[in-house]
Amino acid sequence: MSRTHIPVLAGELIDVIAPAAGETAVDCTFGAGGHARLIADRLGPAGTLVCIDRDPAAQERFDEFAREVHCETRFLRMDYSEALSLLHDEGVAADLVYLDLGISSMQVDARERGFSYSYDAPLDMRMDPGQTLDARAIVNGWDERQLAQLFRRYGDDPSANRIAREIVRRRKRGAIETTGELVAAIEAALPAAVRRSFGGSHPAKRVFQAVRIAVNAELDSLDRALPLGWELLREDGRLAVISFHSLEDRRVKRFLAARSRGCVCPPDFPVCVCGRRPEGELLTGRAIAPTPGEVADNPRAKSGRLRAARKLPAGDTR
Ligand SMILES: C[S@@+](CC[C@H](N)C(=O)[O-])C[C@H]1O[C@@H](n2cnc3c(N)ncnc32)[C@H](O)[C@@H]1O
Repeated sequence: MSRTHIPVLAGELIDVIAPAAGETAVDCTFGAGGHARLIADRLGPAGTLVCIDRDPAAQERFDEFAREVHCETRFLRMDYSEALSLLHDEGVAADLVYLDLGISSMQVDARERGFSYSYDAPLDMRMDPGQTLDARAIVNGWDERQLAQLFRRYGDDPSANRIAREIVRRRKRGAIETTGELVAAIEAALPAAVRRSFGGSHPAKRVFQAVRIAVNAELDSLDRALPLGWELLREDGRLAVISFHSLEDRRVKRFLAARSRGCVCPPDFPVCVCGRRPEGELLTGRAIAPTPGEVADNPRAKSGRLRAARKLPAGDTR
């Protein structure tokens, strides 16, 4: 069953970045266009919305979306960091740039794409089916040490070593081809007591997250996109990111904090000697989390965190 995607923290995003009529916005992660539709309504006929997604299925949804909204629209089917670089080269200046990270419900629910541990499917996990690297190549090609490091770094999995050892042991009998076989290897690697300790959480969740991040080089794209998105903003432009795990949120937090920091002289200096002025102003002190009501309606929103900043005009000396 392929449910449509419910946009996460949608009201909060609109409140924080306050889209206005006639502005130019860049949606880096179009998905099902849930956020894009709300933004398009506020941009109105004089506004422009550039939509980006590397999944061809998102492009199909965009075609319908573009017929229904009133602002000018454009779609770029590529990695958002490449798209932001292209827009920059074209001389585009944006009032709003926003990213809603991770994968959509349609991607999770499309069994054959292999994103979910709940369905048995070929090990794939590519957001862009045109790219060569897939989950099968990682699970069968990386050595035990690389796999353990991956599960630890991107999945924060305390059983990373055991799971990597079991995968490599099973691989000797033949390649691990499906999500079901990967889940079986993970479950076999964990002693019963450890499996019981997961409570409601699936024991394969962390490994699947780690493999998906690696297949799609998600953190590299984010690291490249943040400065490019910031660069694209006009004065008073707003950059916002909704992230879904601490590896993403930490990067966003650091990036926005660095843009919004002024003087970096040691506190005991009587006067500022660094001369540094903030380029931006945080629009979210702490990250904004979904309300319990939103999580009850849409459990996939649970780990969403919104952060945003505004680019200060050049002469602003706050
Ligand atoms: C969480 S969904 C976005 C949902 C969307 N905001 C909505 O309301 O429907 C994330 C989307 O971003 C896309 N995506 C993730 N990383 C990407 C990247 N580096 N470049 C381009 N698209 C990316 C995925 O293919 C997916 O469609």
